[in-house]
Amino acid sequence: MVKLMEVTGLEEVKISFILNDESVSVEVDPRKRLLDMLREDFLLTGVKEGCSVGECGACTVLIDGRAVTSCLVLAPQVNGHRVTTIEGLQKNGELHPLQQAFIDSGAVQCGFCTPGMILAAKALLDRNPHPTREDIKTAISGNLCRCTGYEKIIKAVETAVKYLEGKDENNRTNDRKKTETLKKLTEEAISDDIRVIGKSIIRKDALKKTTGEALFAGDMRFENMLYGKVLRSQVPHAILKNIDTTDAKSLPGVKAVLTYKDIPGANRVGIILKDEPVLVDHKIAHIGDPIALVAAETQEIAEEALERIKVELEELPPVVDVKEAIKEDSVKVHGDTNIIAIKNLIKGDVEEGFRKSDIIVENHYKTNFVSHMFIEPECGIGSYENGVITVWCSSQNVHFDRAEVARVLNMPRSKVRVIQAETGGGFGGKLDISTQCYAALLAYYTKRPVKIIYSRVESTMASSKRHPAIIRCKTGATKEGKLMALDADMILDTGAYASYGPGVITRTVVHITGPYDIPNVKVKGHLVYTNNPMAGAMRGFGVPQAAIVHESQMDILAKELGISPYEIRKRNVLKPGSYTATNQLLTSSVGIEKTLDAAVEKAKEMLKGWEGIL
Ligand code: FES
Repeated sequence: MVKLMEVTGLEEVKISFILNDESVSVEVDPRKRLLDMLREDFLLTGVKEGCSVGECGACTVLIDGRAVTSCLVLAPQVNGHRVTTIEGLQKNGELHPLQQAFIDSGAVQCGFCTPGMILAAKALLDRNPHPTREDIKTAISGNLCRCTGYEKIIKAVETAVKYLEGKDENNRTNDRKKTETLKKLTEEAISDDIRVIGKSIIRKDALKKTTGEALFAGDMRFENMLYGKVLRSQVPHAILKNIDTTDAKSLPGVKAVLTYKDIPGANRVGIILKDEPVLVDHKIAHIGDPIALVAAETQEIAEEALERIKVELEELPPVVDVKEAIKEDSVKVHGDTNIIAIKNLIKGDVEEGFRKSDIIVENHYKTNFVSHMFIEPECGIGSYENGVITVWCSSQNVHFDRAEVARVLNMPRSKVRVIQAETGGGFGGKLDISTQCYAALLAYYTKRPVKIIYSRVESTMASSKRHPAIIRCKTGATKEGKLMALDADMILDTGAYASYGPGVITRTVVHITGPYDIPNVKVKGHLVYTNNPMAGAMRGFGVPQAAIVHESQMDILAKELGISPYEIRKRNVLKPGSYTATNQLLTSSVGIEKTLDAAVEKAKEMLKGWEGIL
C-alpha cells in the first residue's frame, strides 16, 4: 500500500503513548489525524468519523481522561499522553458499567454515536461521580444522536451512576445474565424464543455497538483494497460537452477512471422513475451531480486524480423556484415540462361547505429543505470475484440496490449480492442509491475491492432531502367550531430527480386534512423538478409538511372563534364512523381522541398555573 507520507512528502515521526492501558510506539505522518491513526494503524474502528469538523462527537476519545474529538487532533499531539477508546473500556472481559447501562436502558439504536457518547459520559463520571441531570446534558452536548433520543441516553448515564455506587446491583446482575444471553444470541444469530411482544427486551446488536465491535461499512477492510472517489458538479445546470481523463489516468496509483461511457448497462437509476444518471452523460441538473469515478491506491491519490479530470461544460440558467418552474416558459430541467405529477383529491362539495361556514381562514405556508443528517455518511465497498459482484453498504433498501446494480452492470441479479452493513442512521435518506453502483463499477473494472466513503460535505450535497412545500390552505367552520370545508393547493419541490416524490406528494395531498373529519375537501398537488438538491423519503414522508398547515389552521380558527385549541380539535377529531379525506369509513382503531385527551392531561400536569392556554 502507498503510505500517506509518499503523497504528502513529509517524513514520518515516531511517537509513544499509552493506548488503552498499553504502551505503544508508532511512526506516523505528522499530518495524520489521531482519528485516522487509531482506525488505520491500530484498527480501533470503534472510533467513528461522522462530520470531520468536531461537531458530531462520533470520533470522541479520551486523552488523559478528557473527552476530545479525534478528528481535530493530529496524531503526534498524543505523544507521551494516555488515550482511551471504546475498545479499552472492558476490563477482564467485563463491560464497563456505562456500557452495561446503555444496553440495559435501551440507549442504543444504530449505534454509530454510541462509542463517542459512552466516552463523553465516562469523562464526566470520572471527574464527577454524582452528576446532576444538567451535568449529564452538558457532558454529552458535543455528541449528536439522530436515532435514540437523548432521554434514554441520559437515563443510561444515571443508571451507570447507580451501578458504580453499587446500587441496583440485583438488576445489574440480572442484566449481566441478559448480556450473556445476548452474547449467545449474537453468536447463534437465531433465537428459539421469539415471543417478545409485551416484554422488555434488550437489542440483539446492543452489545457489539457498545463495545465498538459492530462493523459499519467504513470499518471494513479487505486485502488489496482500493479507494474510490466521485467527481461532482459544482454548478447546478449545464450541458456536459466533454470529459478528458488522460491526466488523471496517468497519475501513479490510479487504477481506474470511469465516465458514463464505461457503464455496461443502464445509466439511469431511481426508486419510482429512472431519471437519475449514475454518471452524467448529457445534462447536469444540480450541484453535486456525479460526473466521473476514480479508484486509486489511497484516498489522497484518488482526490488528486479528481482534480486532474478536465470537464467542459456549457452552463445553463438554473431554475430554483417552484413557482417559476411550473410556468410554461420556464427553464426545463428534463424534457419539456418540470411538472412530474399532479394529484387531485375531491370529497363532497367544497363550495357548498364554505357557504355553510360561519368563519373561513385562508393562509399561505412554506417549508424548507431538511437534511436527514444521519451521523454515518454513506459508504459502500464493492468486490468482483468469480463473476459475482458483492457490495457491502450502508443502506435501507438492499433489494432495490441489488436490482439497480444489476441493471447498471448489465448482469443478472443472480450474479449480484448486496449486503447491508451496520447502518448508522437513515431516516429515509438511505433508501436511494448512493455508493452502491459506484463501488460495484469500480470493482468490476479493477477486479479489486473498492471502498467509497462520502465526506460529510459530499453526503450533504448528494443525499436526498425532505421536500420543501408551498401550500395555500382555506378552511371553513361553523360558529360552533365544526369543520365544514377545506380547499388547498400545494407545490412540492423534488429538486433534480423524482426519487420518492410521486409517493410523497400523494401523502401530502391526502394528509392535508389531518386527523379531522371534514365533509367537503378539494386539494390539488403539483410535484415539480428544479435544479435544487434531490428530495426524497424522510421521516413522515410528506405528512409533516401537511401537519404544520392543518395544525396552524386549527389554532387560527380556534382563536377566531374564541374557543381553546383543544376544544376545536376535540369537536373535529376522527372517530369510528367518520369518513377520511379519501372517503374511507373508519370502523375501529381510531386513536386520535384518546391521544388528544391523554396529551392534554399530561400538558395540564406540566403547565400548572398555565391551564388557560389549553
Ligand atoms: Fe445515536 Fe444512531 S443511535 S446516531
